[in-house]
Amino acid sequence: MGTDQLLRNSNVQKNQKKFCVTYPFRYILQEQRFVCLLVGIAVASVVFAVVPSINPATSSPKGLISASDESFRVHRRVAYELHDGFSHLSAGGRIPLGLKGKSLRILVTGGAGFVGSHLVDRLIARGDSVIVVDNFFTGRKENLLHHLRNPRFELIRHDVVEPILLEVDQIYHLACPASPVHYKDHKTNVMGTLNMLGLAKRIGARFLLTSTSEVYGDPLEHPQAETYWGNVNPIGVRSCYDEGKRTAETLTMDYHRGLNLEVRIARIFNTYGPRMGIDDGRVVSNFVAQALRKEPMTVYGDGKQTRSFQYVSDLVEGLMRLMEGDHVGPFNLGNPGEFTMLELAKVVQDTIDPNAKIEFRANTEDDPHKRKPDISKAKRLLGWQPTVSLKEGLPRMVDDFRQRIFGDEKDNTDTLSDA
Ligand SMILES: NC(=O)c1ccc[n+]([C@@H]2O[C@H](COP(=O)([O-])OP(=O)(O)OC[C@H]3O[C@@H](n4cnc5c(N)ncnc54)[C@H](O)[C@@H]3O)[C@@H](O)[C@H]2O)c1
Repeated sequence: MGTDQLLRNSNVQKNQKKFCVTYPFRYILQEQRFVCLLVGIAVASVVFAVVPSINPATSSPKGLISASDESFRVHRRVAYELHDGFSHLSAGGRIPLGLKGKSLRILVTGGAGFVGSHLVDRLIARGDSVIVVDNFFTGRKENLLHHLRNPRFELIRHDVVEPILLEVDQIYHLACPASPVHYKDHKTNVMGTLNMLGLAKRIGARFLLTSTSEVYGDPLEHPQAETYWGNVNPIGVRSCYDEGKRTAETLTMDYHRGLNLEVRIARIFNTYGPRMGIDDGRVVSNFVAQALRKEPMTVYGDGKQTRSFQYVSDLVEGLMRLMEGDHVGPFNLGNPGEFTMLELAKVVQDTIDPNAKIEFRANTEDDPHKRKPDISKAKRLLGWQPTVSLKEGLPRMVDDFRQRIFGDEKDNTDTLSDA
């Protein structure tokens, strides 16, 4: 056999070796290469699992970003780890729906108010970082004093009618005076909601609007389901609030449909509890404050108009379930137990002073005759329903009012030492 022939044979053998199907597998199985491959995969998995938690976007100082920093949009909804000394505080509170062990950055507008401050308590207890934006129009710093030393909490004095740039995962938009004594214009509901929707869009946050049962006006359907469109006077004294919230709902749905923003809408029915404004003109706070001060309880009209009263912890649970759930809403959040004003006055008498008097006055304009939520949608889709009855909840509110009105030694500020 000549040299040429030998070379040809060896090339043929090489090519056969090259294209043999089982060769790669044999190659990997030789000399512990397979073990090395497995170790490589394991190391890569560990690296990829750890890198997101040290993403600079999630560790931005104070939650503030510059307007031009578009890179922060990426991975915004990835929850980040907390390394502060307050993580042990997250032991409290019920943790809703699949959020155990994760923490989020959450903006609560109106967080110094009645509902907002209770919501902040629950979010902080869950382990989240919370920024409150409030102009203190009806809210009070005292409602949040116990969080001021917590590094997971920030309080910013700001009017939502002006834009603001913050970096968060979720926005609970509550800022709006909720009592007839204080709501005098449309601006907070319209401009404030528009600004917060704009912020949510810009940073990719989920947005929850706290709307109201007032969107049903003086309802012609009873009880009110979310499908009812309402009976609202567009030019009355309450219109700035009723129509303001209706506009806020419209804007929220516009952003959802047109700009793909993740939104949630809650329609809140009368809520009561500790930290309500003492003289804010809402019926439960009026009756309680009057009975404690030994003044007659003011009943407007014949007192036969009905309302339903929800304890604040039930509302907060509903709001959090709505935010974490998959449904846009709107959802009625209220207690379907229905009371006339006179029945409410009787419960207040039983709780505070059986001799408390009732004084009748002419009814206010556009006061709805009946109000009672149909909460079947919230029961079905959020697995939510109120659990605290008026008889259980009222004494808790009375204790708080008594302390604030008569200045008992133990008040909110004492809880500062608990933080
Ligand atoms: N409490 C209820 O029974 C009830 C019922 C229906 C709807 N809601 C809604 O729930 C939300 C909270 O209500 P609440 O009862 O806690 O009222 P609240 O008045 O106690 O709280 C509202 C908070 O918003 C702040 N605020 C008002 N205007 C602002 C502005 N322009 N910029 C920044 N902050 C501003 C206030 O200072 C206050 O802290 C409101 O949107 C209200 O419409 C409440």
